[in-house]
Amino acid sequence: MVTRALGDYFDSPDTLFHLMNSATATMTACNTLNQGGVIAALMEAPAAAGALAARCDLPADRVERLLAFLAGHGIVERSADGTYTATARTQVLHDASAYLASTEIGARAGSQLLASMRAEGKTAFELYYGQPVFAFFTGQPEVAARFGAFMGWMTCRVQRFLFAEHRFAPFGTVADIGGSMGDLLLAVLEEYPGTRGVLFDLPDTVELARPGIAASPLADRVEIVGGSFFDAVPPADLYTTKQILHDWSDEECVHILRNVRKAINPGGRLAVIDHIVSDPPAPDEAQSTDIAMMIWDTGHERRLAEFEALFAASGFRLERVSRNPSGHSVIEALPVQVSGGEKT
Ligand SMILES: C[S@@+](CC[C@H](N)C(=O)[O-])C[C@H]1O[C@@H](n2cnc3c(N)ncnc32)[C@H](O)[C@@H]1O
Repeated sequence: MVTRALGDYFDSPDTLFHLMNSATATMTACNTLNQGGVIAALMEAPAAAGALAARCDLPADRVERLLAFLAGHGIVERSADGTYTATARTQVLHDASAYLASTEIGARAGSQLLASMRAEGKTAFELYYGQPVFAFFTGQPEVAARFGAFMGWMTCRVQRFLFAEHRFAPFGTVADIGGSMGDLLLAVLEEYPGTRGVLFDLPDTVELARPGIAASPLADRVEIVGGSFFDAVPPADLYTTKQILHDWSDEECVHILRNVRKAINPGGRLAVIDHIVSDPPAPDEAQSTDIAMMIWDTGHERRLAEFEALFAASGFRLERVSRNPSGHSVIEALPVQVSGGEKT
């Protein structure tokens, strides 16, 4: 994937305005039409805006304007008689609905970034919503499920790289720590026959994941465990943590990884799946996600040396890296001998 530097748009006020105005309008139009059911209806069959609006119980004039905006940007097609047709791009938009909706949550919290920078100790998310992100999801199953679907979409994005460019050494049991709805775990189990998996996440989250796991043909190879990785994690040969460490400060990551080190079976390994920040800075996903982390959590995206420092502080050493130029990389670490209660 080619990523363009946003700086190109800052060459003139016209291109700057186009970028900023289009980004806001795209997010608003996509979320509104997705959440209102218009995109799903359009994907069933071509239709005029009026017919789609009637089906979704929405005002025809505004559905027409929103669809016309998407047509102008080539996200849906509009014929001369005003009929709209879904394209492959509309499918991408539809598949991204949980991502786009979850991003709205972060965009609101972003209004508090400056305040959070001036008042050390609270994230922008906490200032806006009054609680940290994962506490916010607890007790809001609908919002949490949408976030879980967003994470599943992110897993789909990295899956091809993960299985084509990286092979895990043989393992018996894999534990996906902070595994959300189990998308990654199920994909790993499918790719590595004869293995077993543990889905570990907060108690409320694993309850949301349970029906999806039960419906999977791989369900009998999965154990579901609810708990906090700040307390303890279940034993396993291979630990995967995808988009976990980037949520947390260095101190918190060391706490999590030390718990993994305590529980890991002899001969086991850790596979961190996260962005690696490029040095010098590049216009890539790692950089933009880093800003999101600044808003949502206490964490940040890391350079490889920063992962190595986390490993060194928690009883691991870097073993190998499969670098993904356009998304999440795999950073594998092996346990080293340290004094403490860990298995050896
Ligand atoms: C950014 S999501 C990543 C989800 C998943 N690994 C993926 O990449 O699709 C972070 C996950 O960490 C979980 N989590 C947050 N705090 C946790 C804790 N203290 N113990 C266990 N899981 C936690 C959340 O519920 C959420 O599923």
